Order: sequence, then structure tokens, then C-alpha cells
Amino acid sequence: LSEEVLYRPNFHFTPMTGWMNDPNGMFFYNGNYHLYFQHYPDGNKWGPMHWGHATSIDMVTWKEQPIALYPDEMGYIFSGSAVVDIDNTSGFGMDGKVPVVAMFTYHNMEIEKAEGIDVESQAIAYSLDEGITWTKYEGNPVIKNPGIRDFRDPKVLWDNLHKKWIMILAAQDRTKIYGSKDLKKWEELSDFGGNLDKAVGAHGGVWECPDLFTLPIEGTDEVKWVQLVSINPGGPNGGSATQYFIGDFDGKTFTMDKDFEKELKENHNFWIDFGKDNYAGVTFSNISSAKGGKFLMGWMSNWQYANVVPTETWRSAMTVSREIKLIKSANSYRLAFSPIEELNAYKEVKFKEEKIEVSGELEIISSEQLDLTQAQIKFNISEVKDKSLSFKLSNSLGDELLFGFDPKDNNFYVDRRKSGKVNFENRYASKISTATRISSNPSLNGTILLDKTSIELFYDDGEMVMTEIFFPNAPFERLSLVSKNEIYILDYIEVNQLNFND
Ligand code: FRU
Repeated sequence: LSEEVLYRPNFHFTPMTGWMNDPNGMFFYNGNYHLYFQHYPDGNKWGPMHWGHATSIDMVTWKEQPIALYPDEMGYIFSGSAVVDIDNTSGFGMDGKVPVVAMFTYHNMEIEKAEGIDVESQAIAYSLDEGITWTKYEGNPVIKNPGIRDFRDPKVLWDNLHKKWIMILAAQDRTKIYGSKDLKKWEELSDFGGNLDKAVGAHGGVWECPDLFTLPIEGTDEVKWVQLVSINPGGPNGGSATQYFIGDFDGKTFTMDKDFEKELKENHNFWIDFGKDNYAGVTFSNISSAKGGKFLMGWMSNWQYANVVPTETWRSAMTVSREIKLIKSANSYRLAFSPIEELNAYKEVKFKEEKIEVSGELEIISSEQLDLTQAQIKFNISEVKDKSLSFKLSNSLGDELLFGFDPKDNNFYVDRRKSGKVNFENRYASKISTATRISSNPSLNGTILLDKTSIELFYDDGEMVMTEIFFPNAPFERLSLVSKNEIYILDYIEVNQLNFND
């Protein structure tokens, strides 16, 4: 089978050709969702960064568009964001056309080669045709490098409470917040996270790709501020991952919520995803909704091995878009993620059963279209006791991917050690990825998304997510349940086929 047939995802965005990493500049306007992405169109490894572009009408299926931003003499175009400047605060609008303004990092390779510090600075570009073509601002950079080597990934938001533009970026071991009235002149407002002995959060690697936004606490009108910070390395299962902080923002400074801070210091398990393959995720801008309207998409890979995964034509895919909710938990707050609702429009029930008794290996479904699956499961923890609940994806060549829950250690896991091609990088499959369960609810639910080369697991109403990629030698065509010791009962399983062709 060609790599196109074997590995090109069915419903996860990939560029037709070339390298891709972080999602950038996502926004919604006039019925269209826009996704830009770190892109090297002329090679399948990381290289001179462009912003590729894709559009969608439902955040599920994407159509690639011409490249939006090319590198120039000021540098590569690193990660950043885009906002719709409805009131034309920037003055870029013309003839009633609403400007979309992108803010990105220039990464200057000349300075890097000369081992200079001021490699990275922030710049803007605007579009008067809803994000298709872009003009770089002649006044760039709008924020010069202040003497910090890693100084990048600006995420702009409109702060409706304080009526100004706010921007958050990553500066080595911390984030910095800036404010602006016109998206051109920026004033530095505050720092968060760094400062050696007072450092908060995980610092296993450099901080990257932050985001800052509000969410109502589920079921209330009370609003909290959420900060996302990606780190590389230092993720819970190695390599790159994204942590989060819950707090408040007074128009100047982000302060962690007291209860949240206490819990974070006791046990930092605030990760948007505990699997190895969801990095640099940020939210779409300009989606307004009383219920929150925050949707995240991440890069479905890991810097440990992203450059050597076994595809040639393109490299890497994005996660599905995920809706974010803020839940009040027993001790503080948690984010919960679910695949966006629009995905349900493509769903057709294939298999549905309650109270399945499992002993040994039980085939749930065998299908050539397993790589187009959304499934839901529910079981009672006491039912599995010291046995583990294991799902197995397998093919005719003996490749297998195992995932499930181990009540003995209270861990979720994904085991891709025998999932096909695994030897391209030693950290890719040397360990089973695990995540300690947070919820203590005896009933455990999960949503599973399967594509040709990825699994996305949303457990406990999405407060525990695991996303991992895999490269089988032949398509996985069998999903089974495996019980090693005794019999256990799965309360519910529903397997749905996703249809994208009609
Ligand atoms: C994160 C990142 C960003 C940077 C971009 C470069 O994956 O390192 O910090 O802007 O990738 O491609």
C-alpha cells in the first residue's frame, strides 16, 4: 500500500506536501474557519517556516489554501495568531473591508548563526480579503527583542472587560503579557511563571505557544481566565506537551486562583493532554458564544520524533478541533475537552451493546473502515477491580495497539510498542504512556476517535485526554476487548462509523 493509502489521515488535517508543525492564527469569520500552520512546503523536515493555510465550514473537514505568509529577509515566520479587527482599531481597513490582523514571530537565522541573542521579534500582517492574501506591515517589527533568546509565539485576544487588545507570548521560562489599542503599539504589562525560586508550573523545557482566554465555569455565569503554556521537553510522558493554569486577569496581570495554585503545587497534573502527541495547541479567535465558544486544535506530534515519523510526502497532522469547558472540581478547577459537536453530523451507528461480558479476547468489530471510527464506552470501576480493561487494535500482520485502564495503578494507558513501525526514534515507543486517573467517580466513560495513524481518547467527560499517533504496517481492522484474568463486564459500547463522502 502507498503511504497515501496507508497513512494519510481520513479526518485530521495534513498538508498535501511538506512539513507541518504548530497550528497558527486560527479564527472564524463570515462562515469560515481558518487554520494557518507552521509549514515548510519544500521539504519533509522542519525548515524555513511559512504559514500554510486551510479553511473549513465546520471545523471538521479542511481544504488547503495557498500559502499565506512567506519567510523574508527579516526571518522565518514562526508561530502566532490572528484576530478579526471589526472596529478597524488598526486602521488597516479600507473601503469598508474588515481587516484580519496576524501577529507572528520573525526568527532571524543570520542572527542565530552569529549566536546573537536578538533572534526573535514580533511582527504583524493584515488581510483585507478574509485571510487569503496578506500584507506585512511596513513598521515591523512591532516588538523588538528585549535581550531574551527565546521570545516568541504571540497570541492576541480582545479583552472585552478592559476594552483593549491583549497579547501573551513565551519568553524562555515565563509568559509575558502586553496590551495595545491598535495592534501596532504594544506596552509590556506583566510576567507569569518564571523567576527561578518562585517559578510555577512545569519547567522541564522552554515555554512556547501560550494562550489566554476566558471561560465561564460550567453551569454558572462566573468567568475565569485560562492560560495555556506548551513546554518542550518536560511533558508527562516525555517530550512536548501543554499545561494549563486557571486564574484571574485584571487587565494587567494574570494571577492564579488560590485553590488552583494549591492543587498545582501539591500535584501538577494540569495538562490538556496526557498522550505524547498533542502540542502547541491554541484556540480559535472571534467565535462568540455565551457558553464559552473556545475551541482548540493542536499539532499531533512530538518534537522527540516529529522529523522522522515514517511518512515522506507530508509530515504530521493536527488533532481534531476540541471544545473546552471549565469545570469546578472538588478542590479547584479543571479543563474538560470534547471533540467538537460538528463531528456527530458524520456519524452512523455500527454497533451498540450493553453489558458485554469479557473473558479472554472478544472481538467487538472487524471493519475495513475502523480508521473512521468514533466510539463511546462506559464501565464501572468496581467491575474491573484488579483486572485491567484493555482494548486492542490489530491487523493481519500482528501489529497491535493497546489502550485502556489499569485499576491496580489507577492509570490510563496507551501501549504502541508493537503498533507497527516503531524504530525510527528510540523514545517513540520505548515506554507505555500512562496517566493517573483524576476522577474518583466509580463510573468511567470514554470517547474514542480512530483514524489511520491516530487515536484520541477522552475519558471522564474529557478531563483526561490521551492522544497518540501510530504507523501500522497494514491498516488496523479489528477492535477487541481483552481480559487477562477473570471475567469483567463492560456496561456500554457504541461504535460509530464516520462518513465524509456524501
Ligand atoms: C513550537 C515552536 C514554536 C515556534 C515554532 C517554530 O513547536 O517551537 O515555539 O514558533 O515551533 O516552527
